[in-house]
Amino acid sequence: MNISENHIYVIFGASGDLTRRKLVPALYSLFIRKLLPDNFALLGVSRSSVSTAEFREQMRSAINQFKEIDDVSGIEEFVRKLFYTTIQFDDVSTYSALKQELALLRSESNICGNTIFYLSTPPGLYGVIPANLAAVGLNLQDDGWKRLIIEKPFGNDLGSAMQLKESLLLDWSEDQIFRIDHYLGKETVQNLLVTRFSNGMFEPLWNRNYIHHVEITSAESIGIEKRGGYYETSGALRDMVQNHLLQVTALTAMEPPSSLEPAAIRNEILKVFQSLRPIQRKDVQHVAIRGQYLSSTIKGTVVPGYREEAGVAPDSQTETFVALKFYIDNWRWGGVPFYIRTGKRLPTRVTEIVIHFKPTPHFLFSGDKHRQSCNQLVIRIQPDEGILLKFGMKTPGSGFEVQNVNMEFHYDDLSIQRLPSAYERLIYDSIKGDATLFARTEEVLEAWKFLTPVMDVWKNGHEVPLYGYPAGTWGPDNVDDLIEDKEMTWRYPCKNLSDDGFFCEL
Ligand code: BG6
Repeated sequence: MNISENHIYVIFGASGDLTRRKLVPALYSLFIRKLLPDNFALLGVSRSSVSTAEFREQMRSAINQFKEIDDVSGIEEFVRKLFYTTIQFDDVSTYSALKQELALLRSESNICGNTIFYLSTPPGLYGVIPANLAAVGLNLQDDGWKRLIIEKPFGNDLGSAMQLKESLLLDWSEDQIFRIDHYLGKETVQNLLVTRFSNGMFEPLWNRNYIHHVEITSAESIGIEKRGGYYETSGALRDMVQNHLLQVTALTAMEPPSSLEPAAIRNEILKVFQSLRPIQRKDVQHVAIRGQYLSSTIKGTVVPGYREEAGVAPDSQTETFVALKFYIDNWRWGGVPFYIRTGKRLPTRVTEIVIHFKPTPHFLFSGDKHRQSCNQLVIRIQPDEGILLKFGMKTPGSGFEVQNVNMEFHYDDLSIQRLPSAYERLIYDSIKGDATLFARTEEVLEAWKFLTPVMDVWKNGHEVPLYGYPAGTWGPDNVDDLIEDKEMTWRYPCKNLSDDGFFCEL
C-alpha cells in the first residue's frame, strides 16, 4: 500500500544535470518501491522549450543510464506521470500560466493541492522563484501543503545567506523550506547516529577523556569536471566544508538527542555549530591550509591543472583543497582537535571519519610505532561502506611485541540490503514532511559565521599561500603540519576500508 499523500512534484531546472542524474532516477526508484502515492505527477519546469513527449523520452533514457534500481519494469507507467512546461524564471507573469497548468494536472490526475517545488536551478534564482510562486499564491496551504526544496549553496557567505533567509521568510514559513545537504541523506552518515546511540559501549569513550583527535576526510579523485563556472565562485571551502563536512562533524560530535523527533535532532546539531570555537583572523594561516591542483600524469594519462580547466581563470586563486583544524568548546570535546580535509584530484574517492583514541597511560610493550596509532575507529561513509576498529594484538612468538590488527564490518555483508541513494531518501522524507535530514537556517548561518574569518583572510590576505599540489596526490606537502602531535599524520585511506598508506590500491 502506498502511504505517501498524493501530490505534484515540480522540478525547476528540469533540463539540468541533477534532474537527469539524480532526481528522476531517485523518484523512479521510489515509484518501484511503492513509496510514491498512486495519484502522483511530476512537472518539469525549465527555460528550454521541450515538449512533454520529449521530456519523457529524456527521462526514460536517464533512468536507464543512471540506474538507481535494477527493476526497469515500471518505466513506461512512471514516465506517463511526467509532464513538462516552459517558464521564464524571473518573469512573474509566466507563473500564472504555471498555476493554471498545475490546476489542470490536479483535476486530470485527481490530486489535491499538495505540491513540492524543487529548486534545482542556479543559486541566483533561489530568491526569485519562491517570490514569484508566492506572487500567484502558490505558497498558500489552504488546498494542501506546499514545500520548497532548495539545493546548496544556501548563500555564498553569511551576508548573502541572511538575505536569502529573510527574502524566503517573507512568503514561506520555516517548516515549508527543506534545505538539501545530500550528505545527510547518505545511509552511512545516518548510521553515525545508530552506531553512537544504539551501542552502549561507544558512548562512555566518546569524549575528551578517551579521544585524542578526530579526523574527517572527503577526498575525490575527479577534478571539477565541467563545473568551472560554478567552482570559481565556490572553491572547496564553500563547496564541501561549509555544508557536508560540518554536518558530518555535527553528527559525530552531537549529544544524544532526547528523541528521534526532527526538532530534537536538529537542536543537538545546532548546539555543535554554536560551540565551534571562533577562528581568529590572525590564526587562519596556522589552522587552515589551502591548495590547488596542478597538471600531472596519473596512470599514464596527463590530467590538466585546475587553472587549465574550462571556465577557470588562468590566475585563479580558488582552492581545490582545504585542510582545517578547529575545536568544539563544550564539556564533551574541550581541547580535542578536529581535523577536516577535502579536495579534488586526490588519489582516490573516499569519505570517512577516524576517531583516534588516546594511547594507554603507560606503554608496557615494545614497538613505539604501534603506540602512536593504535585504537582507531574508522567510520567509512563511502566507498566500501563500513566500520573498522584498529587495535593492538600480541605478535605470536616470544616476548611481547604488539602489532595492529583490524576488526571490520562491511555493508556489503548485509547481502540483500540495497543502500538507497541519498536523494532517494531525502526526496522521500520531503514527501513525508520529515525535515530531520535537512539543514535548518540557523545551522547554515552558524556554519557561514564560523568560516567567515577563513574566507576573509583568504580573499584579502596575500600572506596566506595557496599551495600547488600535483593532481593525484594527497594535497600540499605541509598538510601534516596541521596535526598537533608531531609523531602523527593524517590517515591515507585506500579504496578498501581496511587498507591505508601510500602504496595500497586506490
Ligand atoms: C557536491 C559538490 O555537493 O558534492 C561536488 O558540489 C562534490 O563538488 C559532491 O563532487 C560530492 O558528493 P559525493 O556524494 O560524491 O561525495
